[in-house]
Amino acid sequence: MDLSDYKPKGKLEHKHLLTLLDYSVNEIYEILAMALKLKNMLQRGKKHEYLKNKTLAMIFTKSSTRTRVSFEQGIRQLGGHPMFLSSNDIQLGRGETIHDTAKVLSRFNIDGIMIRTFKQSDVEELAQYGDMPIINGLTDDFHPCQALADLLTVYEAFGRLEGKKLAYFGDGNNMAHSLMIAGAKAGMEVAICAPQGFQPREDITEAAKKFGKVVVTDSIDEAIAGADAVYTDVFFSMGQDKDPKKEAALMPYQVNAQLMQKANKDAIFLHCLPAHRGEEVTAEVIDGAQSVVFEQAENRLHAQKAVMYLLMK
Ligand code: CP
Ligand code: NVA
Repeated sequence: MDLSDYKPKGKLEHKHLLTLLDYSVNEIYEILAMALKLKNMLQRGKKHEYLKNKTLAMIFTKSSTRTRVSFEQGIRQLGGHPMFLSSNDIQLGRGETIHDTAKVLSRFNIDGIMIRTFKQSDVEELAQYGDMPIINGLTDDFHPCQALADLLTVYEAFGRLEGKKLAYFGDGNNMAHSLMIAGAKAGMEVAICAPQGFQPREDITEAAKKFGKVVVTDSIDEAIAGADAVYTDVFFSMGQDKDPKKEAALMPYQVNAQLMQKANKDAIFLHCLPAHRGEEVTAEVIDGAQSVVFEQAENRLHAQKAVMYLLMK
C-alpha cells in the first residue's frame, strides 16, 4: 500500500493494543499512515494537540529508555500528560493485584495506560478490568509498539512493505513474535532464523503463518537469501539469566559483515535496542552504513503517537 496516498480515517475497531494478532491489515496501515502524518506535522513545526489534557499512565515493571521517553514525549506533543508509575513506587510492586490496580485507576479519569511487564496475561487482565485503552509496551511474549515502528522504518527505506523480506536472526523472543505477526500482516516475507531450542513459540508461529509468508528455520543461508531487512535482538531478554549454553547456541547467528554481504545489496540493518556489540551484532554492522537503528528508535515516537491518538481520542 502506498501510504503517501492513503488518507487516514482516524478510526480503529479496537479499544486496546495488546498484540497485533487482534489488528487487521487495514488497521496496521491506518496506524502507519497516521504516524507518517504526525511525523510530518512535527517536522514542519505544526501543532497537533489532539489529546489535550488527556492523561497517559505508564506502568513499568521492567527497565526502559526508548519506550518510557517516547511515550512521555509523545503524549506531551499531543497536548496531554504522562504519569510515570514504576512498580518500585506503586503498590503493584508489593503484591496489589492487577484487578484492583485497574479498578482504582479507572476512578481517577486516566485516559489510557501503557504497561511494560512480564506476563501477557497481566496486560490482558488490566484490559479486562480497566475502563480505558491499554497499550502493551512489551511483555515476555510481544512488543507490538516496536514492531509498528519497525514497519514504519522499513516502509520509509523502500517506499513499500509488500513483497519485502525481513530476516530475523537470534533468540525466538517477544521481538521475533511481534515481527512475524506485523510483517506477515503487512504483506512482507518473514524468516526467523534461530537454532533448535530457541525458536519462536509454535502457537504464535502457527498464528502468524495464517496471515502471510512466515518461515522458521535454523538455516542461515535460507533466511538471508534475498533479505531486504536484517534484524536481530539480544540473546538474553529482560528477566532472563545469562546462560553460557544459550550464548554458544546463538553466537553462530550473530549479524556480522559476512552475513550482511549475503543479503540484498541495498539491505538495511535493524535492532530494537538496547544492543550488545560483539554478541548478537558486531559494531561494524550496527555502526555501519546499512544500519537504521536510530531511525527505528525515533519512529517509536511517531508510531506510538499514532496509536495513542487513535485509541485515546
Ligand atoms: N526497544 C525498546 O523497547 O527499548 P527500551 O527497553 O529502552 O524501552
Ligand atoms: N527482547 C528484548 C527486547 C527489549 C526491547 C527484551 O525483552 O528484553
